[in-house]
Amino acid sequence: MKWLQAIQQYFPSHKYAINSRILGDDAELAWSNLGYWEDATSSYPQACQNLAFHLAQSIHLTSQDRLLDIGCGQGASLIFWLENFQIQNLSAVELQQNCVEKIQKNLNSNLKIHQDSFLNLKNIYPQNSMDAVLCVDAAYHSDLNSLILSVFDILNSKGRFAFHYLMLSEDFLNLNSIQQLKYQSLLKAADVNVKHLNSKSDLQTQIENTGFDVLSIEDLSEAVFHGFARYVQQQKTRATGLTLDHLKIQMTAKLCEKLYTDGLIRYVQISVSKP
Ligand SMILES: C[S@@+](CC[C@H](N)C(=O)[O-])C[C@H]1O[C@@H](n2cnc3c(N)ncnc32)[C@H](O)[C@@H]1O
Repeated sequence: MKWLQAIQQYFPSHKYAINSRILGDDAELAWSNLGYWEDATSSYPQACQNLAFHLAQSIHLTSQDRLLDIGCGQGASLIFWLENFQIQNLSAVELQQNCVEKIQKNLNSNLKIHQDSFLNLKNIYPQNSMDAVLCVDAAYHSDLNSLILSVFDILNSKGRFAFHYLMLSEDFLNLNSIQQLKYQSLLKAADVNVKHLNSKSDLQTQIENTGFDVLSIEDLSEAVFHGFARYVQQQKTRATGLTLDHLKIQMTAKLCEKLYTDGLIRYVQISVSKP
């Protein structure tokens, strides 16, 4: 069995699993997003917190909100909401069983966590009782319509939702079909379906058609794509290794830099509310 264990350590346990230690977060309940990088950002956990904080601010999160964190990963954001926003009523949904078990074991709070897909929220929360839903750096692997409809059903009448997604620039629409196909396969490798992405005006219409009002769509490409790529580049010694975990991080950084430089696919923060 020893060699089997030895081989297994070279493979991530889940397609969305990220080895946060390589990135610079050694915490038990670690962050695993791309981060929001400013000149003053001094560490990977701080960049991740910045991204979460910026998102929460876009819907004016308060301690009174019944908050649901979807795609919460290894759970660092849950600690962040509890400590920095004093959230009293916190729920979470995450696909990876490992993450859910680790959070249940390590987070000593009244948190209610479910191992499930966030496209399936209606079955988990039959009543529309949430005030706020946040999805930090986790939505762009999914079809936006399915996600938005899933969230719409569980929010109360004044509920707000904020998430990160990818958006096509106007220049993307001018590419010929071969060039678009090239992008399609590039993003497929990162489990993103280009057919799910829209330009800003189409995105706005798409969201409004689901019944939400759009509060804001903010382009964070430089602070996120470029920032993450630059950080991994600077961290070369830590992020260089032979495991698939290392490779995954290096490939993600390369993809982020390409997307930033080409400018055809943008990283956006979107906040919406029920009318
Ligand atoms: C990039 S990580 C971000 C994790 C966390 N939000 C953070 O900021 O550290 C994306 C997370 O979303 C989760 N995820 C992706 N699709 C999901 C889905 N359909 N339902 C629930 N979780 C999902 C993945 O398992 C992964 O943990």
